[in-house]
Amino acid sequence: MLQSTVILAFASIAAAAAATWKDVKCLSDAEASQIASRYIALYDTGAVSQLSDLTSIVTQNFTSYDGTGTGPYDNGPSTVGAQAFYESLTASTGPSSFTDSVQSPVFVIHTCDTVVYRWQFTAVSTGYNATVPAGTKLAFEGTDIVQVDLSSKLIYNATSSGDWINLARELGQIGNYFP
Ligand SMILES: *[C@@H]1O[C@H](CO)[C@@H](O)[C@H](O)[C@H]1NC(C)=O
Ligand SMILES: *[C@@H]1O[C@H](CO)[C@@H](O)[C@H](O)[C@H]1NC(C)=O
Ligand SMILES: *[C@@H]1O[C@H](CO)[C@@H](O)[C@H](O)[C@H]1NC(C)=O
Repeated sequence: MLQSTVILAFASIAAAAAATWKDVKCLSDAEASQIASRYIALYDTGAVSQLSDLTSIVTQNFTSYDGTGTGPYDNGPSTVGAQAFYESLTASTGPSSFTDSVQSPVFVIHTCDTVVYRWQFTAVSTGYNATVPAGTKLAFEGTDIVQVDLSSKLIYNATSSGDWINLARELGQIGNYFP
């Protein structure tokens, strides 16, 4: 009698665990790679022209953290919400030192719901605020960590760190346009 009660208890725990796994499936390798590629490509030159370009990739409450933050020495997010992210990607900041930027993952690793990837940036110099001629090839790398809402497969939190100093070096900006 006791034994069958124990077996029944185990059976219902197993059933509950199976139901949980069915509702919340961990990311597959292919999904993690696709999420990384689609997200990092949002930063390509001209990639985003309307809010709907983002909404199949990030949640409405998406938060982004990078080196800019909300002020010096502040660990606050650089953008909060898909709308603010859209505005930051499409803001007209005047002439740029580079154009035709393309960003893609170099390699991708992931846990159940978090994707970490090394990315590469490539672009060409425009000659503006640079000591190298227009058309000079540029490249540097960075690392992103993105957290994924498993029910929608959308990114709700992203942390980015890039070797932007190497871009400044390649443009010949250090000592000329920046200290
Ligand atoms: C953001 O939205 C996701 C679903 O899209 C939800 O799981 C999460 O709790 C929300 N986070 C905040 C801070 O509102
Ligand atoms: C989002 O990422 C930031 C920076 O890495 C981290 O401090 C924060 O705890 C994360 N938010 C959530 C809800 O996991
Ligand atoms: C160009 O360089 C000047 C400093 O020499 C700086 O004030 C300005 O912000 C730079 N413009 C861009 C778009 O980086």
